[in-house]
Amino acid sequence: MAARELDEDRGLDMRLRPGSLQEFVGQRRLKEHLGIYIEAARNRREALDHVLLYGPPGLGKTSLAHIVAHELGGGIHTTSGPAIERPGDLAAILTNLAPGDVLFIDEIHRLGHQVEEVLYPAMEDFALDLVLGKGPSARSLRLDLPHFTLVGATTRAGALTGPLRDRFGIIQRIEFYPPDELAEIVRRAAAILQAELDPEGAAELARRARGTPRIANRLLRRLRDYAQVRADGAVTLPVARAGLQMLEIDDLGLDRTDRAVLSAIATSFGGGPVGLDTLAAATSEEAETLEDVVEPYLMQMGLLQRTPRGRTLTSAGWRHIGLDAPAVRQMRLLPEGTGAAEDGGRA
Ligand SMILES: Nc1ncnc2c1ncn2[C@@H]1O[C@H](COP(=O)(O)OP(=O)(O)O)[C@@H](O)[C@H]1O
Ligand SMILES: [Mg+2]
Repeated sequence: MAARELDEDRGLDMRLRPGSLQEFVGQRRLKEHLGIYIEAARNRREALDHVLLYGPPGLGKTSLAHIVAHELGGGIHTTSGPAIERPGDLAAILTNLAPGDVLFIDEIHRLGHQVEEVLYPAMEDFALDLVLGKGPSARSLRLDLPHFTLVGATTRAGALTGPLRDRFGIIQRIEFYPPDELAEIVRRAAAILQAELDPEGAAELARRARGTPRIANRLLRRLRDYAQVRADGAVTLPVARAGLQMLEIDDLGLDRTDRAVLSAIATSFGGGPVGLDTLAAATSEEAETLEDVVEPYLMQMGLLQRTPRGRTLTSAGWRHIGLDAPAVRQMRLLPEGTGAAEDGGRA
């Protein structure tokens, strides 16, 4: 992804970010749960339990962290795992919190071990353990912290250490969005951006946005540009189709990287299983990007499977890149109903 696009996204994320649970589209179950916990905490005049949000990028984790703070009526302090380098950095942040504030730590799986050690008593007892001095004369001192709510976000809940994970009272997974919800999100964004988007155009865009609001909003901007230059400015169905074709987004919403991954598994590894690192080398992508960004959607669409021995294409995955799965090729030679399963035995 180009740096320019990321910057543009960042600026735009702020403008398009929903401000309340009510404005946050979709994720019904998650909103219901969070809504109850927030209301209960507010009524008891207590800090909300710590919240861990996990799921692929662009689904609304940062937005939700801000919404939680807003609904609690407190302030929000934002940082990220890699930004907190030393225990002292975290101590400085913690001692600056006011009661009821939200501390949002993005990419929380990337916290250093020593920093995490400081976080445990802070989360559990709202306490900060300081060690004064060195050697035999060192003493430890316990400082009380205001009751705050930690909101952690991560693309990989599995990468969190057990002790950290256990200290979150509320753990919520954010799911890919179905097309009707994405359509609602882009219609809202179009209104804010004053872009002309008709319902069929919105539906087409939504269907091909990888289940991801951030991508849907980005496609909206690109299609608006396309409509302005190649049509009369309105993103209609034909304009959306032509624009998406130019962007090389296919019918399922896959982009070039997605298709390159499917093709590599098919042509270089006979459909798999292939290990993550091998696949990363073959496609010149980072393993982490493959795992966090590319694979979740391919799996969601039923094109790819993760097995203990590696990644395999499903028969739908083969079909999507216009090839037959080896098992299907063989099955053609067999009479129907011989019981040969398309994917059986290969996974
Ligand atoms: N449920 C939603 N309703 C409306 N817009 C959303 C929703 N989720 C995400 N967005 C949009 O997508 C953008 C990216 O969301 P963000 O919270 O930054 O995702 P994450 O932190 O999970 O990567 C936001 O700026 C917002 O415009
Ligand atoms: Mg985020």
